[in-house]
Amino acid sequence: MHLSTTAALVTGGASGLGEATARHFASEGAQVTILDRDVERGTQVAAEIGGHFAQTDVTDEDSVAAAVGHGMAKMGKITAVVNCAGIAYGIKTVGKEGPHPLDAFQRTIDINLVGTFNVSRLAAAEMSKNDPEPDGARGVIINTASIAAYDGQKGQAAYAASKGGVVGMTLPMARDLASTGIRVMTIAPGIFMTPMLAGLPEEVQQQLAADVPNPARLGDPKEYGRLAAFIVEMGYLNGEVIRIDGALRMR
Ligand SMILES: NC(=O)c1ccc[n+]([C@@H]2O[C@H](COP(=O)([O-])OP(=O)(O)OC[C@H]3O[C@@H](n4cnc5c(N)ncnc54)[C@H](O)[C@@H]3O)[C@@H](O)[C@H]2O)c1
Repeated sequence: MHLSTTAALVTGGASGLGEATARHFASEGAQVTILDRDVERGTQVAAEIGGHFAQTDVTDEDSVAAAVGHGMAKMGKITAVVNCAGIAYGIKTVGKEGPHPLDAFQRTIDINLVGTFNVSRLAAAEMSKNDPEPDGARGVIINTASIAAYDGQKGQAAYAASKGGVVGMTLPMARDLASTGIRVMTIAPGIFMTPMLAGLPEEVQQQLAADVPNPARLGDPKEYGRLAAFIVEMGYLNGEVIRIDGALRMR
């Protein structure tokens, strides 16, 4: 697969890692449809990259079905999906306010895990109808986990559970979709300088950066976008999780 002939859905493409991916893919000649619940930013980024936008709630079946239809109508095909839509709360299992609110736990699982699967299954159904490339490839799905899937911190029970789920479903999805020529990969980022991180005080950002062994800095969202692009083009990568974290292991 080549980026220049790729037609990609990018969830969470209105911000952060998804936005950087949408911009990088478009700059390499890919067609891009951004799926995000943020209409204002999503429309703006799509316009800037010559792409398309569908207001989408990844947890909602009808909303995602409509967005996949929009992507098909605008691009004529879907050959890649990059799942970046996600949320993170910092809440302890039992904190000063009492036990972890169950709805916050469920919401995190719903968006980060169920939402990722919802987009993947509906997009894969479309991708499976693509004419295969000479090597049999019909498409690729790239999910976003986190190093919290392995080294979750205090307050990350819900987030780490959701990302552990994304890691866990990577291989079975790759096996399920193998006969259709669709690959499934997951990226597990360390700490990246996205709007979420930029909101933290400067000294907290510096401390986080100093904990990264090499290079001792936060990840640049463009680096995530470049890894996603590499996965699209590297047809022998399948069913695996790649950490991109400067060797960071959270204690
Ligand atoms: N930034 C990091 O350091 C980091 C590290 C590890 C993993 N991640 C993961 O990468 C992904 C992107 O993170 P980010 O830092 O770019 O975050 P971000 O907040 O900048 O972007 C997330 C985007 O997802 C969208 N979104 C949220 N819920 C949605 C829903 N239900 N339907 C549709 N869109 C929805 C938001 O509108 C936003 O545009 C997330 O899954 C996050 O967990 C981020």
